[in-house]
Amino acid sequence: MARPTTPHDPRELDQATVAQLQKRILSWYVANARDLPWRRTTDPYAILISEIMLQQTQVPRVIPKFAEFMAAYPRLDELAKAPLDDVLRLWRGLGYNIRARRLRDCAVAAVGAAGDVTAGLPRSVEGLRALPGIGLYTARAVLVFAHNDDLAAVDANVRRVLTHELSLPADLGDRELQSVAEATLPRGRSRDWHNALMDYGALVLTARATGIAPRTRQGAFEGSRRWNRSRLLQALLDRGPQRLDQIAVALDVTPDVAAELAGLLTRDGLVCRDGDCLQVA
Ligand code: ADE
Repeated sequence: MARPTTPHDPRELDQATVAQLQKRILSWYVANARDLPWRRTTDPYAILISEIMLQQTQVPRVIPKFAEFMAAYPRLDELAKAPLDDVLRLWRGLGYNIRARRLRDCAVAAVGAAGDVTAGLPRSVEGLRALPGIGLYTARAVLVFAHNDDLAAVDANVRRVLTHELSLPADLGDRELQSVAEATLPRGRSRDWHNALMDYGALVLTARATGIAPRTRQGAFEGSRRWNRSRLLQALLDRGPQRLDQIAVALDVTPDVAAELAGLLTRDGLVCRDGDCLQVA
């Protein structure tokens, strides 16, 4: 692995620095590891579910939802067969409902592409990335946590820990950070290393402690368009198909706003519209 050369970072990332960082973080982890449900499995499907849930939702909220989801759909082929409205009901409380639709689409594509319900998820970054809703980080994370592959998966915690510990510029680009993450990965210990970095970032080197802000911040939810979109979808899940004028009354919005929200949900493949009538896709 070539050493990372970062235009903003003149520091030499030498072997001793890397070895010291690995030792410090991994020994901290031995004493402080969080016991999280998705760490008790190496099933790539379960890991994928946890990673998608963790993308925009905090760990304490994901823990019970992960258990519920795995109880309802323990295998990829079972999720592939699930009606979208059932998956969306299970997703309640996690937010960003498009993730649920993409997960179900991903299961359909994986089972369909393999042509065999027992085949499971692809074993490579490229294969995983070809599925709907799986980006580079998620593909790498699945392979790291399920198979202990020597890959670097950089989420917000990993980024913050590496930035702080190696005194990297806070605005270092994704590509440069990926190079640093690859150069600091202890070969053969990828799973433990990523768990350790994520725990260290969540428990010790928090955004508050380091002053390193997340790249993206969620805006206020209540009153936002995202909030109204979610309320519209929940109304359809609770009450079945509804006309736009009924929706406008239920949500206390104008008919124009109701139509706009319906358009956004339709574009996301969560809702379908037949004339003035809306229902879950
Ligand atoms: N965030 C993303 N993946 C995670 C994991 N496996 N454990 C804890 N937090 C995470």
